[in-house]
Amino acid sequence: MTKTPSNSSIGLSKLDRRIAVAPMMDWTDRHCRFFLRGFSPTVLLYTEMINARAVVRGDRARLLAFDPEEHPLALQLGGSEPAELAAAARAGEEAGYDEINLNCGHTLGHALGLEHELR
Ligand SMILES: Cc1cc2nc3c(=O)[nH]c(=O)nc-3n(C[C@H](O)[C@H](O)[C@H](O)COP(=O)(O)O)c2cc1C
Repeated sequence: MTKTPSNSSIGLSKLDRRIAVAPMMDWTDRHCRFFLRGFSPTVLLYTEMINARAVVRGDRARLLAFDPEEHPLALQLGGSEPAELAAAARAGEEAGYDEINLNCGHTLGHALGLEHELR
């Protein structure tokens, strides 16, 4: 399989967006994405929507884990608190995601990581 180089410097290089697999909760987890990568080395893959608060306060390493084979890979964060979204986005960049995508229009009642949310 041809490999796409990792791009951990968000914004410094253009992603090929002609084909992408949309973020889908309960579907595009790391196992699904690894499987999908076998069909195309270049298609842009999205994570499920991940609760930004859970990333900031919960098990960040587990929530953001992915295999390097999954690049190019976008992290979708869900939330409504700007400071939490910003902190979670920074964590996503540090984890090596190629893009951070914000979903601010969802109730998050079902978002991945909710079980780690600390109120
Ligand atoms: C099972 C399922 C889960 C989804 N989860 C998310 C999600 O986590 N975040 C999101 O932004 N959209 C989510 N969506 C919407 C899809 O990302 C996509 O925008 C939608 O299916 C429309 O795609 P289309 O324009 O290619 O038809 C989900 C859709 C489905 C069917």
